[in-house]
Amino acid sequence: MRKKTIFSGIQPSGNMHVGNYLGAVRQWVQLQEEYECLFCVVDLHSITVPQDPEKLRSHSRELAALLLACGIDEKRSTLFVQSHIPAHSELAWIFNCVAPLGWLKRMTQFKEKSIQQQSSASAGLFVYPALMAADILLYGTDLVPVGEDQKQHIEFTRDLAQKFNVTYGELFKLPEPLIPKLGARIMSLDDPNRKMDKSADNPQRAIYLLDSPDAIRTKISRATTDSHREIRFDPQRPGVNNLLVLYQLFTGRETQEIEERFLGKGYRELKQDLADAVIAGLAPIQEKYRTLTEEPGYLEKILARNAQKVAPVAESVVKEVKRRMGLG
Ligand code: AMP
Ligand code: TRP
Repeated sequence: MRKKTIFSGIQPSGNMHVGNYLGAVRQWVQLQEEYECLFCVVDLHSITVPQDPEKLRSHSRELAALLLACGIDEKRSTLFVQSHIPAHSELAWIFNCVAPLGWLKRMTQFKEKSIQQQSSASAGLFVYPALMAADILLYGTDLVPVGEDQKQHIEFTRDLAQKFNVTYGELFKLPEPLIPKLGARIMSLDDPNRKMDKSADNPQRAIYLLDSPDAIRTKISRATTDSHREIRFDPQRPGVNNLLVLYQLFTGRETQEIEERFLGKGYRELKQDLADAVIAGLAPIQEKYRTLTEEPGYLEKILARNAQKVAPVAESVVKEVKRRMGLG
């Protein structure tokens, strides 16, 4: 039987943080065992907000290297860069014309992201879900492993695929989201009511995968908690809960065992133990990243080979879409 196909993407808008790792990338590594996997550095999504060109290019490279360092195996999975494959942009334009405005207006991520920018927000930010749908549908994807924040975009993708199929004849498979039970929404260290994100306005917010041990210790020691004393998992106390979730994911220990460990202890001990666990968890990734990036041309070779591999698949889908719609 044919293996099911997995597709997921991550933006090179900044450095990868532990939210990306625990919410998405760690699952990707496990899924490689069982599925045909495609992982994409989605640089066209990053330009929906202003980017410095040189930084964007180096972040894309860095991110691809980090994904390999996290355990994405270039022999089993196909890691590539979105802008290397023009079919993504082409299908996205077509989807812009299939997607009703009302569907896009409902997207909560657009509402959140556009609040600060108001009418200076790019039109691309608004139609971003159509590009994401193109990414997913170009490869006959069955499953999309993502964090909680992307669930609505996968639903949009399914609706769009269905609308296309009804209008132009059955073509696209409807993908399912794959969201982890724990870690699907890691919160910011400075404000545990908002998700950890890549925005650079406060570097204390996130733990980045390439942070030094000292930086990790300082950030965790300054993380916002509360004035209670008891250390236990409780979503009503988002600061402490987030630290405990991080601790659980980095140590693999059970809830009860963790609560017993910190019984009668203070936040200082929790933060110290968490910092130790995060530093130990990230050390092998950082080590592998250094080795990988020392070899000149290694990464470029992988990305170029993979672009060559996926381009014909994506092009043939776009060709069929155009044929059905009376284009070309
Ligand atoms: P992005 O950084 O927006 O490109 O996200 C890449 C992947 O990481 C997506 O699957 C997101 O759902 C996931 N992700 C981003 N931020 C978090 C977070 N704070 N907690 C859990 N998953 C996240
Ligand atoms: N929009 C996703 C995010 O911000 C990234 C992304 C783009 C993606 N294309 C995708 C995720 C396709 C899964 C599948 O996190």
